[in-house]
Amino acid sequence: MKPIQVGLLGIGTVGSGTFEVLKRNQEEIQRRAGRPIQVTMVADLDTARAQAIVGSAVKVVNDARQVIANPDIDIVVELIGGYGIAKQLVLEAIAAGKHVVTANKALLAVHGTEIFAAAHKQGVMVAFEAAVAGGIPIIKALREGLSANRIHWVAGIINGTTNFILSEMRDKGLAFGDVLKQAQALGYAEADPTFDIEGVDAAHKATIMAAIAFGVPVQFDKAYVEGITKLEAQDIRYAEQLGYRIKLLGISKRTATGIELRVHPCLVPAKRLIANVEGAMNAVMVQADAVGTTLYYGKGAGSEPTASAVIADLVDVTRLHTADPLNRVPHLAFQPETFDQAKDQLPVLPMQQVVTSYYLRLRVADQAGVLAQITGIFAQASISIDAVLQREAGEGENQTDLIILTHDCVEAKMNQAIAQMQQLSTVLAPITRIRKEELN
Ligand code: HSE
Repeated sequence: MKPIQVGLLGIGTVGSGTFEVLKRNQEEIQRRAGRPIQVTMVADLDTARAQAIVGSAVKVVNDARQVIANPDIDIVVELIGGYGIAKQLVLEAIAAGKHVVTANKALLAVHGTEIFAAAHKQGVMVAFEAAVAGGIPIIKALREGLSANRIHWVAGIINGTTNFILSEMRDKGLAFGDVLKQAQALGYAEADPTFDIEGVDAAHKATIMAAIAFGVPVQFDKAYVEGITKLEAQDIRYAEQLGYRIKLLGISKRTATGIELRVHPCLVPAKRLIANVEGAMNAVMVQADAVGTTLYYGKGAGSEPTASAVIADLVDVTRLHTADPLNRVPHLAFQPETFDQAKDQLPVLPMQQVVTSYYLRLRVADQAGVLAQITGIFAQASISIDAVLQREAGEGENQTDLIILTHDCVEAKMNQAIAQMQQLSTVLAPITRIRKEELN
């Protein structure tokens, strides 16, 4: 059977992995797809490097639009990244009637509504397994494997760089800045790691998963995003003493009034499997009504793990490209017309309305009555305390750390209580607040 022809836009780490794995496993991939899948054209600014990777049988150009304009190309794989030219090229490829496979989470989280609408209109597929958690087939699991379920929540370690940093801070007691330098030297973190450490990359991925899990549009602008730059090694230590690990989680949760969509550092009970995901690995937990809790673990980045997801999409598109578009798997799991029923759609809740539990660290004067003042504020706000830990003051010290774990309460109430505590003359430094999720 005639091979399906693929054009790569960009042949960096993921592109070269895709080319290599397609070549290495071509026989099995063909048996699965029903016909051969061949990369026949590549666009990259560094044509010499690209040609050296793919060999002389593949046409290499420096202009992505030549790939899109080639009538023989069936699928365009966008591996450029970012919201800029990548968006333009994806829309042009769709307009030219090409199916698109992309690893670009930023693009889909921000412009997904426009891109999926364009694809729907043209009757082409946009596949994006590689955009979330690299090699873990979490998009397929949420969209197809769990389609019987009403999903309650999705919580994931979906950024390898930050998980590596947190693991090293815990293991070696190092400060954030020192581990970041190490992560950059090892090639985990980008030269500009802002999107990773500020939680933006994780929020892109959480946004996409929320849309698929709950049948809401992609709404990155409504996500609450907090990274790990302010985390201190002492909080990791205190959390550990209380039986918790700190992870950067991407969380989306269905509640009676809306969808929570948030990324922030989080205390997780050390006994949970997800708390033991170390280094640059990713893991996603899903809780749903019929299946209960499921956990997906694996490499969230890297050349061949991400290529694994890109090629799975190529196989899917190859299998389905002759099918009636109405009979294909919907891009975001739910049939597109159901996204228009705005009156039934749950809103993304502002952070003030999110309900969770908390870890607080207060630097306080070590004197009589301080604990009573603080617990008094909690009592007044009807916030229930779960545990208290007081560090023994050092010799000659007249101040100490007070660590408080609370039960669930709404964020607005906690903000108010923190503001009140901060006013006390016995509270000597800004209060540290880290949210806590039991994930049970
Ligand atoms: N920067 C990402 C991470 C790569 O650290 O997980 C995969 O999206």
